Amino acid sequence: MAEISSIVILTGAGISAESGIDTFRDAGGLWEQHRVEDVATPEGFARDPDLVLGFYDLRRKALAGVQPNPAHEALARLDAEFSGELLIVTQNVDNLHERAGARRVLHMHGELKSALCTACEMRSPWDAAMSDRPPCPVCQAPSLRPDVVWFGEMPYQMDRIYSALRGADLFVSIGTSGAVYPAAGFVRDARELGVRTLELNLERSEGSHWFHESRQGRAGELVPTWVDEILGRG
Ligand code: OAD
Repeated sequence: MAEISSIVILTGAGISAESGIDTFRDAGGLWEQHRVEDVATPEGFARDPDLVLGFYDLRRKALAGVQPNPAHEALARLDAEFSGELLIVTQNVDNLHERAGARRVLHMHGELKSALCTACEMRSPWDAAMSDRPPCPVCQAPSLRPDVVWFGEMPYQMDRIYSALRGADLFVSIGTSGAVYPAAGFVRDARELGVRTLELNLERSEGSHWFHESRQGRAGELVPTWVDEILGRG
């Protein structure tokens, strides 16, 4: 394997599936149980805030009952032991990467454990419910919404992600269907930049043919094996 000094990793719902968190598009996934336009758009929130706040309250509460799995733990080990540049870009709004110990994590679709005030636009760490309209810790307005990116909104920190991709020599996509842009386009961006690309997913994703290499299997098995390879124990 050529010397690797800078890695960008993209994770999706598949990495948290073995922890017991529903993915979006698999059979029985969240988008079979709920209409995207009702619970994951600004228009849905304007129409029925109780429904939307209740949906995210349940998902936030559910985090207390799940644990990081071997895939999160392997990435945390990579974060601790890999001396080169590393950025774990996650589309997930759960906190399992951090709870496994990873530090170099960027939540491009926001976080369940964060509140965004629609009055003062400040973000606050958030653990409780929002459907009872608690006051914003900064401005006291009862105007909090989940700090998650909905369809039609701009994902967070895109400049930082593209800058990391430009400096990377390996891009690895883990547990994501490749259905939602801009994340789904990172593999093509990486290839145009001459970055080596690897997919680790249960099945071939929609953009699988764009990757130099695609491995199929459970994240809990594939990710620890790949991390061992990178850290030189393969
Ligand atoms: P999806 O539900 O679209 O895709 C999950 C992927 O994980 C699928 O390709 C599965 O095959 C794979 N998978 C399932 N179990 C796995 C396992 N144990 N090991 C490895 N892979 C597994 O979820 P995302 O791609 O994360 O955005 O979805 C992207 C975005 O769409 C989400 O961030 C969310 C959603 O709508 C917003 O809400 C803005």
